[in-house]
Amino acid sequence: MRHIKFFIAGAVALCTSVSLSAQTLTEEQKIGELVSRMTLSEKIGQMNQLTGTGLSGDMTSAVRSGKVGSILNELDAGTVNALQKIAVEESRLGIPLVFARDVIHGFKTIFPIPLGQAASWDAGIVETGAEIAAREATSVGIRWTFAPMIDISRDPRWGRIAESLGEDTYLTSVLGAAMVRGFQGSEGNDLTAPDRMAACAKHFAGYGASESGKDYNTTWIPRSQLRETYLPPFKAAAEAGAATFMCSFNDINGIPSSGNSWLNVDLLRGEWGYDGMLVSDWGSIEQMIPHGYAADLKDAAEKSANAGVDMDMMGFAYDRHLETLVAEGKVDIAKIDEAVKNVLRLKFRLGLFENPYTVPQGRDAFYRADALAAARKAAAESAVLLKNNGVLPLKTTGKIAVVGPLADSGRDQVGTWCFDAEPEHAVTPLQAILAEYPELEVINTPSLTHSRERNTKRIKAAVKAARNADVILCFVGEEAILSGEARSRADISLPGAQRELIAELKATGRPLVLVVMAGRPLTIESEVKMSDATLFSFHAGTMAGPGLADVLFGKVSPSGKLPVTFPKMVGQVPVYYNHKNTGRPANDITLIDDIPVDAVQTSIGFTSYHLDAGDRPLFPFGYGLSYTTFEYGAPQLSSEAMTADGGITATCTVRNTGGVDASEVVQLYIRDRVASLVRPVRELKGFKKISLKAGESTVVSFDITSADLSFWRADGTFGVEPGEFEVWISTDSDAGVPARFSLSGVK
Ligand code: BGC
Repeated sequence: MRHIKFFIAGAVALCTSVSLSAQTLTEEQKIGELVSRMTLSEKIGQMNQLTGTGLSGDMTSAVRSGKVGSILNELDAGTVNALQKIAVEESRLGIPLVFARDVIHGFKTIFPIPLGQAASWDAGIVETGAEIAAREATSVGIRWTFAPMIDISRDPRWGRIAESLGEDTYLTSVLGAAMVRGFQGSEGNDLTAPDRMAACAKHFAGYGASESGKDYNTTWIPRSQLRETYLPPFKAAAEAGAATFMCSFNDINGIPSSGNSWLNVDLLRGEWGYDGMLVSDWGSIEQMIPHGYAADLKDAAEKSANAGVDMDMMGFAYDRHLETLVAEGKVDIAKIDEAVKNVLRLKFRLGLFENPYTVPQGRDAFYRADALAAARKAAAESAVLLKNNGVLPLKTTGKIAVVGPLADSGRDQVGTWCFDAEPEHAVTPLQAILAEYPELEVINTPSLTHSRERNTKRIKAAVKAARNADVILCFVGEEAILSGEARSRADISLPGAQRELIAELKATGRPLVLVVMAGRPLTIESEVKMSDATLFSFHAGTMAGPGLADVLFGKVSPSGKLPVTFPKMVGQVPVYYNHKNTGRPANDITLIDDIPVDAVQTSIGFTSYHLDAGDRPLFPFGYGLSYTTFEYGAPQLSSEAMTADGGITATCTVRNTGGVDASEVVQLYIRDRVASLVRPVRELKGFKKISLKAGESTVVSFDITSADLSFWRADGTFGVEPGEFEVWISTDSDAGVPARFSLSGVK
């Protein structure tokens, strides 16, 4: 039996007994061989994922009898190896386990939340963050992470927007693929390296469209929109080699993802040819019962298995019912074999058959100097400067008041979805300022202990003390627990008494700098107005303090750009830059408050806007200021006519017209003027981060081909249509003057 076991596994120890022909089997042949030796119960075992319970009797016997294929949330390297030893040496076929964990934006060294990383618009930062996360997490035996989360998120009420890469399909596709490469390595076979782990593109699909931003809620997404807006990041992740996908919790147009054959079989396997593994979300198979899509757990198991879900995460549906369903002919054994092959393929790709064990590295693997430096850079580059009256960058001498509930909260600055973060290792802004700017006299008097605190009794003393400062630096925002899974908010203003705190600080007349640290866009119009400068930091991780200090004191000029639109008020939601025009685009806007009572009938224009909010968001997608100014020339096109099989180049001269060396994210937007389906007013199709010294200029160019102009047309096909297009090269989604070209030669 041992011979058979290692014949399949190719384990080094018994290599000599493996025949030459066995060694030359392809991976697919090895998988086929192994599956042909498995009992139905062993097959179903591979499709079962359980959460760790250490070396409990239940777990060890499940592993020994081949009733579990993967364990999540087991974090002790010794336990991981002990369980693996049982799987490899004591189970009949010796199939290794794969250990999984949500390593979303770092394991110990925490990077900015994904939404913050997206604000860097820098694939390199995202890739490095994932690489470091993989290095740290694999040191305890985790070889599979449940990231990247690439759900397009246009609703800031949704708590999980924090985990996302924002509202835009193109930006999410580019950064999501970078994250896959970071976790897995850019070469396919890097996945076998012990410091790499399998990525998981989640949540497939449409989860970000949850109605009213309420988590897990229903979604209605027309196929064309699903294909155009929500699916491309998943296709990009699959093309980047993402080893696994995860189902989403929501139903799409009435069918929960975990039971959706069109999505998981026809599209993912058929159209895209994906050969990775598809795992359910936690209990999402079982949750088809309350959804009203499955009558009971057995029905749910049948629907998910037939809909191509390979592994059941903590739903117990497969474990309890698949064997009977196969016996009853309700689930074909071929379906089971296919699922098991997908699971085994993952294990082969990870090299687990050759190297099942982890070499424990203890704490040496954590917080290495390069990790901390990369996290600091990421924190600085993901900060978005929303307003600056010239008070920033701050002087490094004199008196500064450092106030607010987020100034010194290691626990909150690491953000959501980092179970393994150690807040005591986070360097807060207050700590960083005290340590790195010794010439500053820092006044720090407690005001509010946390973001939701309503008790204003300590505000007075804090404000009194701040009055003596040359400048006030106030850290406000949201606690980490206000965003993330099941953390949706209907009111996305600053919680607690923070607005009162800011108003009182403003009343001192001292220059007031706000740093807003949050897991989502917030409706902070009045707070921004009260401030002399506002820097927005999506919870920026372990090194948020030093990274933000680098920006505040001018070591780094801010270059972050918003990956999501900021509404003025929550009633504007959904509000996103690539919306479509109505037949009455907004003009002649007069806000209701500005209209005298007797002129209401005559003054309100019949165009598309909100009487109390107008038509614009607080800040558009792509927005972000710098300590310098950039001047954009008009975009130049290499030709005003393009054929469908050709291309044109759009160029723009960008000049640093200020006095500071800085980086800028130059953005390319395109609009299709007339089409068989109404097209968005603009769509991001490219971006480049450039660095310019003060006074320097450069020409930025983008090549445009049919791929950038294609869309899901009225007849359901994907491609271009002839006609006029507009092109912007601009500093954000609301700036710039377009150039025009026409497209012909469409077959
Ligand atoms: C979440 C997933 C996560 C899983 C495992 C679920 O509740 O939706 O994103 O990967 O739990 O922790």
